[in-house]
Amino acid sequence: MTHPPIFDLDNIKELARAAGDIALGYFRNTTVTMKADDTPVTAADKAIERFLTTQLRQAYPDFGILGEEGADFDQDAAYRWVLDPIDGTNAFAAGLPVWGISIGLMQGSQPLAGVIYLPAVDDCFAVDLEGPATLNDRPIHVIAPGQPISSESIILGSADAHLRWDIRFPGKVRAFGSCAAHFCYVAAGSALAGLNTHTAIWDIAAALPILQRAGGAAELLSGAPLSLESATRGVKIPEPVFYGAPYYLDAIRAQLHSK
Ligand code: IPD
Ligand code: CA
Ligand code: CA
Repeated sequence: MTHPPIFDLDNIKELARAAGDIALGYFRNTTVTMKADDTPVTAADKAIERFLTTQLRQAYPDFGILGEEGADFDQDAAYRWVLDPIDGTNAFAAGLPVWGISIGLMQGSQPLAGVIYLPAVDDCFAVDLEGPATLNDRPIHVIAPGQPISSESIILGSADAHLRWDIRFPGKVRAFGSCAAHFCYVAAGSALAGLNTHTAIWDIAAALPILQRAGGAAELLSGAPLSLESATRGVKIPEPVFYGAPYYLDAIRAQLHSK
């Protein structure tokens, strides 16, 4: 299906990079506070969401905006920007390098396109309404089928994976601290699959189309389809989200046993 151009992906990449510059100004030089929902926030998260909201409202006055730090404009607009100003705030506040700015475009509860920029490693993942997902403007793809799952294979775990599952996966389980980044690196073929718990819509609004257009798939760990209706209304997805190169998901799921 061909989509009419409704936004300019290069413009969104530039905004994400400008937001990244704001973030780097605070990196390793900020304090973290806990919000009412017991999740962390810094001055950088708030400054970036303010910046992106102002810029996006000017450039796309007909689009709504939903942001993790409180931005909420035009809920009923046909298209909405869904913002995670810093995905990986805990890593950011700890001085670790994997965190990013996520700008997703949604139509109702359907993620369409987006940009995820990781300033500390200068990786910019993007996907337009059609065409491939890219990393720094080069097309990316999930790991090809037919590779044996070995001690050198990688999956990206949720930070609480050690508490939740007895993991019999024979390879390496890594957790960098950003759901959006995990989706992107699975999309780029760096890991077979990933798991995320306590997932909110802003964690995946840009990450899902990047993963899907790179040949990946996402579902619930139970194997049920991932429906975003409630998440779009602000409810966290109650089950772990399981995603990756589709032909490996069943084999990896069988290696995860709930504790
Ligand atoms: C969190 C991070 C974390 C993931 C959580 C998210 P935040 O987002 O992406 O890696 O496991 O589900 O809520 O709070 O850093 O934006
Ligand atoms: Ca997040
Ligand atoms: Ca965040």
